[in-house]
Amino acid sequence: MAEKRFLERVRLGLVLFGGLYLGAVILLATPYFQSQWVSLILDHERYLTTWQSAIYMNAIRLPLFAKFDTPEKYGLAPNKTLNLYINTPDNETLGAWFVLADPYYQSLPEIPSELDTHVPETLKRHPTVLFFHGNAATRAFKARILHYEAYSSRLGANVLAIDYRGFGDSTGKPSEPGLVTDARAAWDWLVAQGTKEEDILIAGHSLGSGVAAQLAAQLSDEGHRSRGTVLLSPFSSIREVLNTYHILGAVPLMKPLAMIPHIPDLVTWALTHKFDSLGAVPRIKGSVLISHAEDDWDIPHTHSRILFDAFLAPYLPPLVLPAGLQIPEDKWATFWEQRDAWTAKRDEILTRREIPHFGSVEKIERDGKKVVFVKTLAGGHDYLGLQEGVQDFMRTLFDFGPLRHA
Ligand SMILES: *[C@@H]1O[C@H](CO)[C@@H](O)[C@H](O)[C@H]1NC(C)=O
Ligand SMILES: *[C@@H]1O[C@H](CO)[C@@H](O)[C@H](O)[C@H]1NC(C)=O
Repeated sequence: MAEKRFLERVRLGLVLFGGLYLGAVILLATPYFQSQWVSLILDHERYLTTWQSAIYMNAIRLPLFAKFDTPEKYGLAPNKTLNLYINTPDNETLGAWFVLADPYYQSLPEIPSELDTHVPETLKRHPTVLFFHGNAATRAFKARILHYEAYSSRLGANVLAIDYRGFGDSTGKPSEPGLVTDARAAWDWLVAQGTKEEDILIAGHSLGSGVAAQLAAQLSDEGHRSRGTVLLSPFSSIREVLNTYHILGAVPLMKPLAMIPHIPDLVTWALTHKFDSLGAVPRIKGSVLISHAEDDWDIPHTHSRILFDAFLAPYLPPLVLPAGLQIPEDKWATFWEQRDAWTAKRDEILTRREIPHFGSVEKIERDGKKVVFVKTLAGGHDYLGLQEGVQDFMRTLFDFGPLRHA
């Protein structure tokens, strides 16, 4: 009878489901599987390796089969770019390109040979952009070369671009402290060539903004003085963004996740490699340019807003939020009052300017240092630095002066 068969099927279903459930419970209760699960959670190194390759993507070596010793192949003028190798204190070898400032290159009577002999002279005459690229690909990647060309010609600056450890033809494997060591080795190389510290502008794009921020903070701590710091399409810190979502409650990203056992721990570990630029901000001395495009789909421009606010923080009344995820009902009034006072003071100390069809510029000048946030309408993630408007803010904020020939 149909009814009986139906009941049989239900029973069979229950038995199957129950069996699977029981099986899963038995597996989870088995010491072997428990140890697998627990080690997956606790095995810092293995977890981070996966996470690291996701952050750095250094295995993507674009362009393929790049010939780093012939930068001409990628659009740079003949013998304008020196391919060199920089050694780090922990024995890695970093591939790097040094591009002569165009005013210097063009002042030469003919195409130079023995390029390394020209390096000290151009470093003496022209400022240098120390450029830290984003994740994936190498120093020969087209979008990056367009940056070197623009800095050399439009800003009249020399450019030093490195491939971090594990990238391009550099040795080693990437890690946060490793990349910062690499950045410092590049700085030290420039100084060893006779560059004045105040002639070096530290610039980083995307992941490189995290490297630039850490280097700038480290140098500031040690009393060194660069020309300034440029953060292009930067991120603040992943943790901070998660926390911000909690406070405003707009996207309660962490709440459902937090209910799953171990997920909060995983997030904490994931954030160990966090390039905490937000934490580095208070340590950076000297002027800073932050720029972000509104149409950046990789890293939203809210990251730059958070960074800029962090530079403002010392000059604003504090926003003291109660601990925990929720603001109790009776604290809301206090919270909004604080917020209003904060906004009023903020509007008082910063100047804001809209540039039609280009974007907005916010600026504060305090204690002899300027912090400027240029938010562009266009440029996306990879081409923001190629916006001539952004380059002009680099030129004026850091006193590169009008383009000089010879
Ligand atoms: C670097 O390499 C040299 C020679 O291979 C070796 O003597 C030295 O101990 C190494 N230093 C470090 C920090 O690994
Ligand atoms: C570029 O430099 C190399 C090495 O110094 C030299 O042999 C070559 O002639 C130069 N190229 C040109 C076009 O002058």
